[in-house]
Amino acid sequence: MCGIVAYLGQKTAQPILIEGLKRLEYRGYDSAGVALLSNGVIKIKKTSGRIAALEAILDKPQANETLGLGHTRWATHGVPNQINAHPHADYTGKIAVVHNGIIENYSTLKTWLQNEGVTFVSDTDTEVIANLIGYFYEKCDAGERTRKPQGQNRFEWAVQRALQEVHGTYGLGILCADCPDMFIGAKKGSPLILGVSEGEYILASDAAAIIEHTAKALYLSDNEMVIVTADGFHTKTIDNIAVTKSLENIEFSLEQIELGSFKHHMLKEIFEQPKALTTCMGGRIDPQNDRIHLGGVNDYLRAMTHIKRLIITACGTAFHAGLVGEFLFEQMARIITETEYASEFRYRNPIIEDGTTVIAISQSGETADTLAAVEQAKERGATVLGIVNVVGSSIARATDAGVYLHAGPEIGVASTKAFTAQVAVLTMLAIELSRRRLVSSDEATRYIKELAKIPDKISQILKQSEHIRTIAQANINQNNWLFLGRGINYPVALEGALKLKEISYIHAEGLPAAEMKHGPIALIVDGMPAVFIATNGPQYDKIIGNICEVRARKGKTIIVATEGNDHIKPYADYLITVPDAPELLQPMLTVIPLQLMAYHAAVLRGHDVDKPRNLAKSVTVE
Ligand code: AGP
Ligand code: GLU
Repeated sequence: MCGIVAYLGQKTAQPILIEGLKRLEYRGYDSAGVALLSNGVIKIKKTSGRIAALEAILDKPQANETLGLGHTRWATHGVPNQINAHPHADYTGKIAVVHNGIIENYSTLKTWLQNEGVTFVSDTDTEVIANLIGYFYEKCDAGERTRKPQGQNRFEWAVQRALQEVHGTYGLGILCADCPDMFIGAKKGSPLILGVSEGEYILASDAAAIIEHTAKALYLSDNEMVIVTADGFHTKTIDNIAVTKSLENIEFSLEQIELGSFKHHMLKEIFEQPKALTTCMGGRIDPQNDRIHLGGVNDYLRAMTHIKRLIITACGTAFHAGLVGEFLFEQMARIITETEYASEFRYRNPIIEDGTTVIAISQSGETADTLAAVEQAKERGATVLGIVNVVGSSIARATDAGVYLHAGPEIGVASTKAFTAQVAVLTMLAIELSRRRLVSSDEATRYIKELAKIPDKISQILKQSEHIRTIAQANINQNNWLFLGRGINYPVALEGALKLKEISYIHAEGLPAAEMKHGPIALIVDGMPAVFIATNGPQYDKIIGNICEVRARKGKTIIVATEGNDHIKPYADYLITVPDAPELLQPMLTVIPLQLMAYHAAVLRGHDVDKPRNLAKSVTVE
């Protein structure tokens, strides 16, 4: 995780770095720092806490300081204090580094460097990189092991030499005090993009920090480095082989990542769902002609018509979308489907038989566990498809083909619009496969028509935001909540519980409603909230039984039911309604009240909704 930014141009670097860090703050926010090159000296300012805390200790920006690095941290090695904050300088003071990732062999390298007389001040793995680069820079041409090819820049060589020693993942921005018009970026396993505009360059972990300056960007691949100077830039592998890369267009606009009239990105993104789904499905569903076009996977659909097994792999909210997908593929297209946590999948020696397709789902496209699962599945010969939001991200590049969500940038750490868009893509895929696999296409036609109505139905639900806030308020002092659903609404219950936990820090559990009586019912005490998804469907009568079990034990029932259902009223302490929809399409509706509930609960408890404690938006470490 963490956000890194580097700037080289004619403008004063400090405000540009700070602005960039603010845009990246959702990636990590336990400490922050900047390094500026000032008259041949590297000046570092860093602190624990947020960017605002960093701003408070910064000196006045100097117009001659036009080169610098910035970092906002999500600590992996070493507590989030001032010393462990990035940038890290090397022992000579000539090198400064910002890093996203983990250096797995840092301990061995640290011991070796210490034996060479190098001193360390922090507990981070990152300082090893700074010191290794500093070591090779200092020892350049001093012996056989440190012989630099003739003509190569010494700083560039020292970076390459250091990176050849490290194992693990990195996105790096690096400065050298002797090189006043130069910085280096290097990538392995963590994202890194160079924005290029007239005479200025901005390197960052994601495009959010770049878009204000330019829409033209270079996406680095693993084991590549970019050397940026006042005269331009060039790319190489870390083994010094030149690589030619072309500039690409950043797909989103500045407006999309700004708050507008909303208080929080999460609320903005919840309310963006009708639009996000319309864009996601636009040009893909054709209700007039009852067709679905998924250009990205078109070449694979014929083969998928005959597949024996589907494996969906993902983490967190994307995993819950995958569980919904499991129901969709099994019920609509009759394909045996399993959904696996990516972090578990890769270590279980997965069985990939001929005719297995793997689908990886990820908003960021950078989740390390999911990326590793993709690589594992590919190694074993599976066709791997991606359902990803961030265009050009690592998972999008690593998969054989895929479908982009086109949900627009998601900044709030709690994923909302990506979930509904992931489910929409899975639904489109399941409908298309069902049409191709099964003789009758009447069902497919019905689902296509119903799918087209989902964005408007979400708009209807959003009107109940204030009503949901009052329900959250009435239960705000309760520290344990249950979320219960059956069938395809069970993953929605899991998602509702995750949302509440991650931003309001209230303990919550999601369960299949019928499982409650096998143990968790013991938790129910007077006043404990139990949120039921009890929409119309074949299991409606059964879930009424589960609701009665909670009421008999004095739990409070918060029920999400289908509009117009009067029968349920006596069972509900609090009632929220959603428009009617076929059962298999309901998750895109039933999740909305749960997102709003979590949002309001977090605000009522006074939490920083967009930057919940201990979390960060994309988990690029394993
Ligand atoms: C959801 O609200 C989370 N913060 C988290 O579970 C997230 O969904 C998970 O880390 C996966 O991220 P991805 O979709 O970017 O791969
Ligand atoms: N491993 C580094 C640290 O702990 C970087 C962590 C990150 O990617 O945020 O400081």
